[in-house]
Amino acid sequence: MAHFAALVGLGSYLPPRRVTNEELASTFDTSDEWITTRTGIRARHWASSGVATSDLAVEAGHRALKSANLPMEPGAVDAVVLATTTPDHPCPATAPQVAARLGLGTVAAYDIAAVCSGFLYALATASAQITAGQAERVLVIGAETYSTILNPADRTTSVIFGDGAGAVVLAAVPDADRPGVIINVDLGSDGSQQDLITIPGGGSRERATPGEPDPQDRYFTMQGKKVFAEAVTRMGDSASALLGRVGWPVDSVGHLVGHQANIRILKALAQRLGLPGERVVVNIDRVGNTSAASIPVALAEAAAAGTLTTGSRVLLTAFGGGLTWGSAALTWPELNPA
Ligand code: COA
Repeated sequence: MAHFAALVGLGSYLPPRRVTNEELASTFDTSDEWITTRTGIRARHWASSGVATSDLAVEAGHRALKSANLPMEPGAVDAVVLATTTPDHPCPATAPQVAARLGLGTVAAYDIAAVCSGFLYALATASAQITAGQAERVLVIGAETYSTILNPADRTTSVIFGDGAGAVVLAAVPDADRPGVIINVDLGSDGSQQDLITIPGGGSRERATPGEPDPQDRYFTMQGKKVFAEAVTRMGDSASALLGRVGWPVDSVGHLVGHQANIRILKALAQRLGLPGERVVVNIDRVGNTSAASIPVALAEAAAAGTLTTGSRVLLTAFGGGLTWGSAALTWPELNPA
C-alpha cells in the first residue's frame, strides 16, 4: 500500500532572553532605525550562556510530540531528523542526544546541514523515509543558537540572527489528498558560491593553513548584498518550479511561509511570484533570522495565531548557505500547535 507523509504535529520554542534593537545599539554602532528599515527586525531571542542547540531542540521536539498526541517514549517515532548549522559539537551529531533526552529510545537520529534551507532538506528526507515505507512517524526539528557563532565586531550579521527551534511530526497516511500531506518538494544547491555564507575555520579545510587557527575564522560570515539577490532569485525560481509541478496556480496559494531572512527579501519574493503581500507569513520582526528553525517557528506561530486555516494551500520556501534552497507544498491540516 502506498504511503504519504502528512504533518500531524507542530511546536516551537524560543529562549526567554529577548534582545531588542535598542539593546544592540547600546553595545555597538547601529540603530533601531537602521535595523528596522533594512531588515524588518525589531527583536530576536538569544540563548543564555551555557544553553546549546540541543536544549532548544528538546523543548520544540517535546511540544511537537505533544501536539501530535504522541508520548515521550520508545516507539513514538521511528526517526529524529535535526536540521542545524550550530550543532552542540562538530562530532557527534546532535540528533541522537535530542532523541535520547526526549525518551525516544534507540531510534534512528541524524543531523542535516543545509544552513537556512536545513528544515526543508530535513522535511524532504523525512517525507521520503515515510513514502519509502521505512518509517511510520518522524520527528523533524530545526534548531539554532546563532548567537554562539556571531562575530560581535560584525554589525551586519550580529543584528540579523536569532536563536530558536521549531519541530513537526510527519506520519504515514494512506490517502494522497489528506490535508497535511507533503505533496512535493523542490531542492537545489550551488556550491560554486559557498563563500557567500561561511564559517571559514573549524573544519577539515583549516588543516591546509599552517600555524595557529585565526579565532576570527570560527565566526559566521556573509556577503549580504550578493546573498540578498541570490535569495530572491533562488527561492522565487524554486517556488515557481514546485507550483508548476503540483499544478497550483500562484493565485491559489493561501499562504507563503518563506525563510525569515529579511522583510525586504520576503516582499521582493512575493512580488516576483505575483503573490499579494497579505498572503506572506511574517514573524521576522519578533524573532530575526533563526536559520534552520525559521520555517517551523513561523509555521507554529502562524498556526497558533489562527492565520493558517485548515484547507489553505501553503507554500514553504527557503534559501541558505551552500548555497542551498528548497520549497515544499502542502494543504494545511487540522492540528493544535504546542
Ligand atoms: N547598523 C548600521 N549600519 C550598518 C549595519 C548596522 N547593523 N550594518 C551595515 N551597516 C552599514 C554599512 O557599513 C554600510 O555603510 P556605508 O554605506 O557607509 O559603507 C551601509 O550600512 C549599507 O550596507 P549594506 O551592506 O550595503 O546594506 P544592505 O542594504 O545591503 O543591508 C543586509 C545589509 C545584511 C541587511 C542585507 O544585505 C541583507 O539582508 N542581506 C541578506 C542577509 C540574509 O538574509 N542572510 C541570510 C540568508 S539565508
